[in-house]
Amino acid sequence: MSEATDLSRRRLLQCLGLGAVAVAGVPEWLFAAGEQSSQDHQGQSEPDVEIGITAQPTEVPILSGRPTKVWKFSGELIKGPPGTVKDIPDSYLGPILRLRQGQKVRIRFHNKLPEPCVIHQHGLHVPEKADGHPRHQIGSGETSAYEFTVLDRAGAYWFHPHTNHRTAEQAYYGLAGLILVTDTEEQLLDLPRDEYDIPLVIQDRSFDDRNQLRYIAHMHDRWRGFLGDRILVNGKPDFVLPLATRVYRLRFLNGSNSRIYKLVWSDGSPLTVIGTDGGLLESPEIRNYVMLAPGERVDLWADFRGRKVGEEITLRSTVFSGVMPMMGMGGGMMGMGRGMRGGMMGMMGASLPQGTEYPILTARMVREEPDQRVLPRRLSQIQRYRPQDAANAQKPRSIHLSMRGMSPRLNGRSFELTRVAEDEIIPLNTLQLLEFVNRDHRARGMMMAHPMHIHGQQFQVLKREMAPGFERQYASVSQGFLDNGWKDTVLVMPGEKVTILKRFDHFTGLYLYHCHNLEHEDLDMMRNFLVQA
Ligand code: C2O
Ligand code: CU
Ligand code: CU
Repeated sequence: MSEATDLSRRRLLQCLGLGAVAVAGVPEWLFAAGEQSSQDHQGQSEPDVEIGITAQPTEVPILSGRPTKVWKFSGELIKGPPGTVKDIPDSYLGPILRLRQGQKVRIRFHNKLPEPCVIHQHGLHVPEKADGHPRHQIGSGETSAYEFTVLDRAGAYWFHPHTNHRTAEQAYYGLAGLILVTDTEEQLLDLPRDEYDIPLVIQDRSFDDRNQLRYIAHMHDRWRGFLGDRILVNGKPDFVLPLATRVYRLRFLNGSNSRIYKLVWSDGSPLTVIGTDGGLLESPEIRNYVMLAPGERVDLWADFRGRKVGEEITLRSTVFSGVMPMMGMGGGMMGMGRGMRGGMMGMMGASLPQGTEYPILTARMVREEPDQRVLPRRLSQIQRYRPQDAANAQKPRSIHLSMRGMSPRLNGRSFELTRVAEDEIIPLNTLQLLEFVNRDHRARGMMMAHPMHIHGQQFQVLKREMAPGFERQYASVSQGFLDNGWKDTVLVMPGEKVTILKRFDHFTGLYLYHCHNLEHEDLDMMRNFLVQA
């Protein structure tokens, strides 16, 4: 980590300097309003659930032989129902937190890392002070508490650091964990539960010959996004899932820094999707493949009935194109000829490039088991937002994604700790029309896919529009987007404009939006919305 780490440390210091200036630029009452509002919701009362989370360096066995030095969240249930905190044995992944809608939660965070850290609850709608904004990061040896009520519906959410310029590396060295929320609507469905409901976190990592994690090796790993050469599931390589011949609920999180997956079953069986980032779909959707970008989740109904004991089926990522920079496609920095297929930079320095074919896990049938379960036709209710109800129905807020001189930007801007521009101020309790536009034609050769994420409430995708000239690559991914469910992260392809509808209710304060390619996030492809009463 040495050279790259040093660079980001220096940048962090610079940024903190700038940050102080920026804080002074924002009137104090804005922050006061945020705190007021969160207190309204949290009250002074005791939490139903209290969890201790410690981040610290440790070692875990990953490959055979020497253990691997990692950073890990470990959890401890201080108060609340048994089973709320469940460790994943021998993994660098943090514990799985099982919460229920309506619960009042307090997380006590203890930072035993040698550097600052902060925890973000990805996908949950919580008060700003509990949301893990980098301005709330704490130093080494310090503690802080996050208090929130679980407002969100049943679904798979997750927690990870959001430390200024250090998110990617901290997550890479292991800091991440799942939050599984349940609610009454979900409990009433006959979906597979307990050991038949399996969370699976997909990540890529690289190791040196001493079994130690290797992170950024070249500058292009940073601006393109880090790609590891091994796929891990729940922190393990060559992952095998022993199964009975029955129905399972498989819940995938793409916890990778920048790798995008195109999920297929090796025998060509379609995938039955029952949920997305923000929980259950209205009704199941059958897909030949599913795209899963960093930060996204997908919930599958996986029916292994009729298979034989001993049979194996592999979940793979299969071939797609168009997500990496097409250096040389008119205006590329190296002045190459047109159309390097697959994206020149997808290949450079990565021994397992984006968009190639490789296995993720093997499902092995180990025993027979009867199961009469029927796939529910109706899973949940989703109230569709209507564009005409948006407070800015006539004037969507456009967020232009760009990559100039190796620095990814949002509307030409970089992250400033507490600053917001005029167009980033959002009135509380409004529905907003937003569009992510990935059409920086002046730097066309640098265009790449960006998984765009917004903190706060889940949103709905209204439409996707593709600029002419991108059809052929787009056809390799476009059937894999799950735009009918609640989303907090959406993949925006080169040439694409994705329009979404999102509400900003309950809490005032600073809420981040950023690219969930974590190297891009750390390169400041992130901004604040200020939600203001
Ligand atoms: Cu999962 Cu702001 O991030
Ligand atoms: Cu988030
Ligand atoms: Cu990006």
